[in-house]
Amino acid sequence: MSRDPLVIFTPSGKRGRFSIGTPILTAARQLGVDLDSVCGGRGICSKCQITPSFGEFPKHGVTVNQTALSNWNSVEERFDQKRGLTGGRRLGCQAKVQGDVVIDVPPESQVHKQVVRKRAEARDIMLNPTVYLKYVEVEQPDMHKPMGDLERFLMAVKEATGHEGLELDTHLLRPLQKILRKGKWTITAAIHQGRDARTPSIVSLWPGYFDGPIFGLAVDLGSTTIAGHLCNLSTGEVIGSSGLMNPQIRFGEDLMSRVSYGMLNTGGDIEMTNAVRDGLNQLVQDIAQEAGVETSQILDMVFVMNPVMHHLFLGIDPYELGQAPFALATSDSLDLTATEIGLAVAPGTRAYILPCIAGHVGADAAGVALSEAPDKSDDLTLVVDVGTNAEILLGDRGGVLACSSPTGPAFEGAQISAGQRAAPGAIEHVEINPTTKEPRFRVIGSDLWSDEVGFDTAVASTGITGICGSGIIEVIAEMRIAGIVDASGLIGSAERTGTNRCFAEGRTYSYRLVNSSEGQSEISVTNADVRAIQMAKAALYAGARLLMDKRGVDQVDRVVLAGAFGAHISAKHAMVLGMIPDCPLERVTSAGNAAGTGARIALLNRNSRDNIEKLVRKIEKVETAIEPRFQEHFVNASGLPNSSDPFSTLRGVVNLPEVKFHGGNGDKTQGRRRRRAAR
Ligand code: FES
Repeated sequence: MSRDPLVIFTPSGKRGRFSIGTPILTAARQLGVDLDSVCGGRGICSKCQITPSFGEFPKHGVTVNQTALSNWNSVEERFDQKRGLTGGRRLGCQAKVQGDVVIDVPPESQVHKQVVRKRAEARDIMLNPTVYLKYVEVEQPDMHKPMGDLERFLMAVKEATGHEGLELDTHLLRPLQKILRKGKWTITAAIHQGRDARTPSIVSLWPGYFDGPIFGLAVDLGSTTIAGHLCNLSTGEVIGSSGLMNPQIRFGEDLMSRVSYGMLNTGGDIEMTNAVRDGLNQLVQDIAQEAGVETSQILDMVFVMNPVMHHLFLGIDPYELGQAPFALATSDSLDLTATEIGLAVAPGTRAYILPCIAGHVGADAAGVALSEAPDKSDDLTLVVDVGTNAEILLGDRGGVLACSSPTGPAFEGAQISAGQRAAPGAIEHVEINPTTKEPRFRVIGSDLWSDEVGFDTAVASTGITGICGSGIIEVIAEMRIAGIVDASGLIGSAERTGTNRCFAEGRTYSYRLVNSSEGQSEISVTNADVRAIQMAKAALYAGARLLMDKRGVDQVDRVVLAGAFGAHISAKHAMVLGMIPDCPLERVTSAGNAAGTGARIALLNRNSRDNIEKLVRKIEKVETAIEPRFQEHFVNASGLPNSSDPFSTLRGVVNLPEVKFHGGNGDKTQGRRRRRAAR
């Protein structure tokens, strides 16, 4: 008895029997094999390329003859002449089954391609964008069938895509007839798949066959900077990245001063909304120009941001976020058109905003959760996004908790006497010899240490201008390791520390990191600097500790530092200061801009939007402001590394001298200050 030929697809391994003459694309569709097709098998798009293999395949139990597929036809000949079908490739919609055959689907022909980013935030993202292109042929008008062009067009697209509730964006109704005629009744539609079968829409149109590219923009809208990644929606490739300072900074450096600006100035919230939207429009222009792309080709956008930015961007007064119970106007994700939120892009461009987790834990934390996926981890993972407000997640497969903690701007170099933003000339790494107490350091812009030959020349153009956030953490941690600062955060005198780099300043002591010389001013770390960092890190640690209490643990398995700042913090120094809980140093990693990575995942994979929405609903939110144990943890966490938690894993690898400088200048006020700060 003769049987239909066997068709085996690799790499999926899917197989089935098909009658002679079945196109490979049809076989793939019936078996659920991931094989792309924009033109619906009309031989126009070339997305369906496959590679047949011939010979013996003992593993599959088949022998494939050269005659297993139909001969090249005129469509393939034409495509080969125009663009080339190399390496034995065929068009899946044209090649037909003639005998048993093994078919390889190359990665470029798979709809759900695995995208590998070669960037700091390298990540595999399964490509499944919300907006995609579909080419269709539309029935021409007929006097005997009085059906409009729109209805015939929608019928063709519904048939080709299976999208039942498909609608055309209203702005496309006017140009539709001209586009249909220009394309001689063939047309390409950009389809936004919507949230479910009922809500897909056609958001852009081109006459005839158009194979893109079309683009999407993932935006991390921070209180200080706005960063965007422009991605090709067909390949997932990041084709441009750009950033700018958030123009809202002129209304206040930190979020609470912006909330107060809105409270104190009538129309202040509207001014801030306009400022951030102007900034975003600038970003869109810059990024498109640099990448050589028309802004009209950007059809999808995804945003992550903290709750105050979220409200100001949407044009909502953030007043309620400034006071308990910190009620969000809306915590759910939002699907909007970009023009609704004041963005000057194509009228059909969609904007998706990730959900907010709580009044202080925003869509940026949801982006971090999507990127770092603590809910899929077997290890109990603490994810800390360090900024002026630290957002903290703790969890594993058993559940995820979240909170935020008001760290203030000290980690960004503010409130530090010689502090500055990370820029050329800023000290970013410090080492102090525990015996001689002599420092050496590196500044941004040079790879040389300050005691290496050529350092002076290397920094001649920038000078040594101050200490950035990562530098201040390293120098204070090194001072603690070298016995220059004690566990309570006091800097010792020259006599007690054995170095004349320590000198009295008013009631306390300072440590001179850089001596003044010709053209170079002195840079020192004061006891007030140490205090500012103690307050910031105590807030961070207390938040993390609170989540650990809720989870009933004293230790975590892993710590992930997110955020641009997190990317530059040394795990050892952060732990010496007690910023993060004790755990093996090799289990502390940096995730770079995880919120931005989360936005990119949501842009390139529509299923991830459902996933993060489900996760956010399940996350247990902890409000630090009303938790009685927060103050206790805060006071304990003011110690270096901590006055209550032992940090024994850290002490096993780093020697922390048990020096005590109390009884010296200014010591009596410190307990009072800590208690006040905790309140
Ligand atoms: Fe478009 Fe084959 S499906 S060319």
